[in-house]
Amino acid sequence: MNAIAASAIVRPKTTAIFTCALAALAGLMFGLDIGVISGATQFIQKEFQISDHMIEWIVSSMMLGAAIGALGAGWMSAALGRKRSLILAGVLFVIGSLLSGGAWSPQTLIAARVILGLAIGVATFTAPLYLAEVAPENTRGAMISLYQLMITIGILVAFLSNTAFSYSGNWRWMLGIIAIPGVLFLLGLFLLPDSPRWLMMRGRKQEATAVLQKLRGDADHVAREVADIEEQLKTPQRGWHLFLQNPNFRRSVGLGVLLQLMQQFTGMNVVMYYAPRIFQDMGYATTAQMWFTAVVGLTNVLATFIAIGLVDRLGRKPILYAGFSVMAIGLGLVGAMMHLGIATHAEQLFTVAMLLLFIVGFAMSAGPLIWTLCSEVQPLKGRDFGIGCSTVTNWVANMIVGATFLTLLNSVGNAATFWLYAALNGVFLLITFWLIPETKNVTLEQIERNLMAGKPLREIGHEASAAAHGFSRPATEDTAA
Ligand code: BGC
Repeated sequence: MNAIAASAIVRPKTTAIFTCALAALAGLMFGLDIGVISGATQFIQKEFQISDHMIEWIVSSMMLGAAIGALGAGWMSAALGRKRSLILAGVLFVIGSLLSGGAWSPQTLIAARVILGLAIGVATFTAPLYLAEVAPENTRGAMISLYQLMITIGILVAFLSNTAFSYSGNWRWMLGIIAIPGVLFLLGLFLLPDSPRWLMMRGRKQEATAVLQKLRGDADHVAREVADIEEQLKTPQRGWHLFLQNPNFRRSVGLGVLLQLMQQFTGMNVVMYYAPRIFQDMGYATTAQMWFTAVVGLTNVLATFIAIGLVDRLGRKPILYAGFSVMAIGLGLVGAMMHLGIATHAEQLFTVAMLLLFIVGFAMSAGPLIWTLCSEVQPLKGRDFGIGCSTVTNWVANMIVGATFLTLLNSVGNAATFWLYAALNGVFLLITFWLIPETKNVTLEQIERNLMAGKPLREIGHEASAAAHGFSRPATEDTAA
């Protein structure tokens, strides 16, 4: 059995960390996919002699595939299980990256990127779901932040490899080389146990208990968690039915969708896809553009550690307040500099610094925390469906942002474009205050009880006192909604 295979390799106490680290490698693939295209486009454009519009298609086709992948991933992760879904994603990833590198026409490249997108869509749905299901509640936030850390490392690696290959202009290597981490990811996946919650859903209680025993190590804790999950599984509705029948579930689905819209419309991916172009607008030449892009990637990685360190201590909301404020200020000032004109070296550097400030704001907050919140707020019976909706939203919004940036620049100008995103970050600050719950140190079961009891969204993370100490409280008649 998988759990036994995993325990043969690592000691029980480290199994949970090992499991989460491996699952978080899914984030690496996500990041490679996001980062890899920014450095390649100018060379692709030269080789195939294609328009900006076609480039926009090549960039966005991956997000289209990802939206479709995320759409099917809910069904898949319920039917096949989380682990096998991740394996399928790994296979598609390797095929997609090899085909991208070998593409013989813009159309093949688009098709290859759709395949890559499918892989990432499935992985971005399944990995956070899996992490939320295997991580104990007192480290859940940090574990999911680890997933985000892997995304940022993937982006950085892609930026660095782009920079290295930019000297020869070999875009085929830029796109193809990511098959190597894809293969490593696939190999690692075979060591993962199945999600205990998924096993329980399939009536495989004994295996679920065995996996939890390896993950938690404490028999009492395991018994409580199994009882909690069992209690929740008594509710016979799920997914789409639950959505139609239960207004409380519709609220949590709406919340997940809103959270992902907020994450994407911060404007982060404008920088991820078009950083070299933005540095060009600041007056930098090609080599400097590529190296500054790598600095953006590095900043993104480093600032993610702020979130990892603070998320389970300060909570989600204070970090989101800080993040949206920093992003609004950073982009507002980038816009102001572009409006005033960047003439001197000092002005150039100041503008770069403000762009990096924006990256810090995102990486320390919305980057990891939105994924965390999205996997925490959905009730178990509808978790697949709920996270599916929010993940699809992430990719659709991502596509809109990626496909409109150049058009926005050309129509309203670069200053107004950055101000628009700065203003949106200001709006998200207010939305966080009004609507977003604090979920720090509360069990998923408690969040679900609050949601189903009809509490306002911003209060669904209010904890039962025992949960504050990191223990799951067994569901009783009066607490189970
Ligand atoms: C977002 C991606 C983004 C990345 C940047 C993720 O959380 O979902 O769209 O590119 O962070 O680090």
